[in-house]
Amino acid sequence: MAPHINKVAVIGLGTMGAGIVEVFAKAGHEVYAVDGSPELAERGKGFVTTSLDRAVGKGKLSEDDRNATLGRITFTAELADLADADLVVEAVPERMEIKHAVFTALDDIVRPDAVLASNTSSLSLTEIAAGTAHPERVVGMHFFNPAPVLALVEVIRTVLADPEVVDAVRDLALNLGKKPVVVGDRAGFVANALLIPYLSRAIALYQTGKVSRTDLDNAGRVGIGLPMGPLTLCDLVGLDVVKEVCEVMYDATKRPSDASPQLLRQLVLARRLGRKTGQGFYDYS
Ligand code: CAA
Repeated sequence: MAPHINKVAVIGLGTMGAGIVEVFAKAGHEVYAVDGSPELAERGKGFVTTSLDRAVGKGKLSEDDRNATLGRITFTAELADLADADLVVEAVPERMEIKHAVFTALDDIVRPDAVLASNTSSLSLTEIAAGTAHPERVVGMHFFNPAPVLALVEVIRTVLADPEVVDAVRDLALNLGKKPVVVGDRAGFVANALLIPYLSRAIALYQTGKVSRTDLDNAGRVGIGLPMGPLTLCDLVGLDVVKEVCEVMYDATKRPSDASPQLLRQLVLARRLGRKTGQGFYDYS
């Protein structure tokens, strides 16, 4: 039966999770915003509040709408609160064992007809779904950074998914004002399969020392017409995420050109992950 999706939960309140909470709450949904401890839930509340306050400051959102949006969100560290959620969107770190732990815990908490979605950008949705009690109700719901701004949502359909669930999530994305594309489970889905080789080649080019970072970024921005240069975009996405998607794509193709560049691996080892750590290709401190 086609699910009715009103009450939503988002698990993991990092950059993506907090942005996804904002999207749902602004669209009028009641949202549980969950992270692993009261401190992390509070940090997530800070991200959402700052973003809404910025919109108020720019005159894009009224004080009343800001307050109403925040009023629809329950920040919590308790997964047990999600018993009445119609949809749960998982946005925890990109490690299969963490995803499995979250989905296994959810199996005992949410209703059997609840839809479970993952915002994963690199891991196999089929593997995530297969580890749950109701794989037919598991889909990918992949937002793009910054989630409140970018319209694309990839809805990932596995071979186990109920087509009515996939359709309901696509319709939900449309109701959020997003542009959904439905795609089967494959390395990089669609958008990252296009984007990540470009970012990876930009890093490899920078690594040769033949072009400065700003000239390289200007070539991508001014020359190719993208909103940001590739190194600036890597810093926004997170170098760890870029590396993870590179690795998944390399695993799938074994093409040497898909392997993650050495400089990317070194920056990740050095925890220079981009904006979120204050340093990546550029300095944000
Ligand atoms: N949260 C909420 N709103 C934000 C925001 C954020 N983090 N960052 C920017 N915005 C808003 C601004 O408030 C501004 O809103 P208004 O127009 O209403 O005033 C608008 O976005 C534009 O921002 P700015 O004027 O500050 O700057 P800009 O014009 O340079 O735009 C940008 C910033 C939206 C990030 C733009 O540069 C852009 O679209 N860059 C490309 C981002 C991209 O490609 N993302 C996809 C990455 S891949 C991915 O995420 C998937 C994956 O799995 C790896």
